[in-house]
Amino acid sequence: MELLKQRIVKDGTLREGNVIKVDSFLNHQIDIDLLNEIGKEFKARFASEKIDKILTIEASGIAIAVIAAQHFRVPVVFAKKTDSKNLDENTYESSVYSYTKDKTYTIRVSKRYLNEGENILIIDDFLANGKAAEGLIDIIDKAKCNTVGVGIVIEKGFQKGGDKIRKQGIKLESLAIVESINNGEIVFR
Ligand code: G4P
Ligand code: NA
Ligand code: NA
Repeated sequence: MELLKQRIVKDGTLREGNVIKVDSFLNHQIDIDLLNEIGKEFKARFASEKIDKILTIEASGIAIAVIAAQHFRVPVVFAKKTDSKNLDENTYESSVYSYTKDKTYTIRVSKRYLNEGENILIIDDFLANGKAAEGLIDIIDKAKCNTVGVGIVIEKGFQKGGDKIRKQGIKLESLAIVESINNGEIVFR
């Protein structure tokens, strides 16, 4: 997606450990016009699929999923990462290891909001090692739903997540794939 790549080049910054900061339009301040174009693009890329629900993970995934859902006209469910006492006790759970934070956390979705046989599209902001996406796929499997595909805004193509998901035969659509970062310059696939 050309508009997105241009924006990453213009406003993205690089941090230690190949971390791409996109706080000015995606992860902290949010550009809703850009997000709306991202939502349209996801809709176009998954136009031939039957989708009942979009599943994402808090926090950054929610805004993206919600604007995208306006183009799909389906509900959004987000997995919770915080151990909330108010959360339904009847949940599907999965463990997710974060390389960035070097810790494992539990993600949870109430059994109420995933019904057997539903067709689920996963949407998230970043795909790096793919652990968050794997956790969501695990929850979809536990709920006996179908993973229709995964839509990612920025894939870090030099990390393993994307290839692992594609190898499983899951349709993965990343709107920008960063192939490498060379001397402070982002190279797209
Ligand atoms: P993985 O899910 O692909 O295995 O990624 P990893 O554990 O390495 O990433 C942990 C968090 O960092 C995730 O957000 C992921 O979206 C984000 N992330 C990974 N690489 C980058 C990057 O280069 N730039 C930015 N901005 N984020 C990156 P999270 O912990 O779920 O946080 P949030 O959704 O609450 O913001
Ligand atoms: Na995220
Ligand atoms: Na994030």
